Amino acid sequence: MSPRIAVVPGSFDPPTRGHLDVIRRAAGLFDQLHVLVVHNPGKEAMLPIAQRQALLEQSIQDEGIEGDVIVAAWSMGLLVDYATDVGAQVLVKGIRSQVDVAYETPMAIVNRDLAHVETVFLLPDPSHALVSSSLVRQVAALGGDVSPYVPAAVARFLDTGARGL
Ligand code: PNS
Repeated sequence: MSPRIAVVPGSFDPPTRGHLDVIRRAAGLFDQLHVLVVHNPGKEAMLPIAQRQALLEQSIQDEGIEGDVIVAAWSMGLLVDYATDVGAQVLVKGIRSQVDVAYETPMAIVNRDLAHVETVFLLPDPSHALVSSSLVRQVAALGGDVSPYVPAAVARFLDTGARGL
């Protein structure tokens, strides 16, 4: 049987505890997982893509997430092109609420139409249900404590490295 390979795509600007929860769950379900930092032209970014990638790598290591997990970045072309290139049959998205379902469903249908790539929705722990990267960006920009919402490496970076960006 061919290996089950999935991609967890997102802006990860910055990675949150909710993202790490979904990554941990997905890593347990697939033989190989690609966590893909994707440039979203619809959003103004706080962190450069390479920084987000480095923070994800550090956080995945710190949290002891096991399995074959690869962190990569993608800013050219369709997400499904990356998925096809690495042999992934599945995209994994975290769903916190009906709002996420409404946002993700059209993308899931288009990605299936484009390349027969299925999307699997995973439910994070309810404790992460209200956490979003955009809220974290706001709190961080205004000098608040984001440590309850993000992995330790991200909290350290936002506290010391990103102020003034
Ligand atoms: O974390 P986000 O910002 O909600 O992630 C959205 C993302 C980056 C996964 C989405 O914008 C995306 O898939 N972009 C890649 C471009 C693409 O393939 N578009 C066509 C199908 S939706």
